[in-house]
Amino acid sequence: MAHSDAPDVLVVGGGIIGLGVAWRSAQRGLAVALVDPRPGGGAARVAAGMLAPVTELQYGEEPLLRLGMASNERYAAFAAELTELTGLDTGYRATGTLAVALDSDDRAELRELHAFHGRLGLASEWLTGRECRRLEPMLAPGVRGGLHVAEDHQVDGRRLAAALVAACERAGVVFHRAEAAELLVEGGRAAGVRLSTGERVTAGRTVLAAGSRSHLLPGLPTGVLPAVRPVKGQVLRLRMPTAHGPFLSRNVRAVVRGQHLYLVPRADGELVVGATTEELGHDTTVTAGGVYELLRDAHELVPGITELPLVETGAGLRPGSPDNAPLLGPTALDGLAAATGHYRNGVLLTPVTADLLADYLATGELPPLAADFTPARFTPKAAA
Ligand code: GLY
Repeated sequence: MAHSDAPDVLVVGGGIIGLGVAWRSAQRGLAVALVDPRPGGGAARVAAGMLAPVTELQYGEEPLLRLGMASNERYAAFAAELTELTGLDTGYRATGTLAVALDSDDRAELRELHAFHGRLGLASEWLTGRECRRLEPMLAPGVRGGLHVAEDHQVDGRRLAAALVAACERAGVVFHRAEAAELLVEGGRAAGVRLSTGERVTAGRTVLAAGSRSHLLPGLPTGVLPAVRPVKGQVLRLRMPTAHGPFLSRNVRAVVRGQHLYLVPRADGELVVGATTEELGHDTTVTAGGVYELLRDAHELVPGITELPLVETGAGLRPGSPDNAPLLGPTALDGLAAATGHYRNGVLLTPVTADLLADYLATGELPPLAADFTPARFTPKAAA
């Protein structure tokens, strides 16, 4: 049982998802605490921050598209509110995205995606290779055509995380800067966590938002949360010249040798190139092979990239649920909710996840938009 001075909500995990949930919940009048040794860390520090529900659309993922679109529509206001409250820029930029084809197979695939967009009523425009290069003159002469998606934008995950930490502080969220060592379960109900310092932090409700470590929290009863697997992404950061007009003006993406490649140009001159997709457990080593593949493929797309200073390499872990869609809302353990498993879409889904979880925590009702994403979809049904 939580103590009378215990917070209403304890969020385990201070990446952008946990911070977003904590901030929005505090804004709803709940007393909120958050446990993380380094709030503002996590996968968003590596992510490119593409907000691309339309260009990243996969067949059979229409429910995820609806969630992604709902989040994308909230982004401008979400970012503006954070900046107004904290004075910190989130790097949100309404740039649009250009997805291009380098050969005739890619072109056929992009044509199919364009037709799929049409069937779903999504705005995307087919461009010839020449039209693509008119938008982005640094593209390789061999580009065969592409899709311009005017509503797929970008945000800077690092700046976003810093703004969310500051917004949480201003909203009165209490930070416990330590590892969560164990979930406390009392009377069949989640009651908070024991910290690595030995301190117990009890709360009315606990939210698990610990990315690819969510299901590893000691004390979590078996079957409450499916395994969230870490999917490594290696990412490069380069510096673009600013003197002679923009090197790239919008997100550019392509599928090269079956791998998704994207280049995200920021207003401050940073150019983010991502990302590998590797299932190697909790390994964040940057490898020569990973850097080579990214540079090789990026060079095919934008040959001038090899002239730019390479300023940083890194690897992050996407939290992948068994169906690659997020786990949102109540779990089979009373008092425990989930906000994890966002896989490739954590940055995009932060505003909608924060709103949906805060609604649930404030009212006890999970909004219908989250209905397809509860952890219950992985709980075996009791025999009739
Ligand atoms: N959303 C881009 C990625 O996961 O690589």
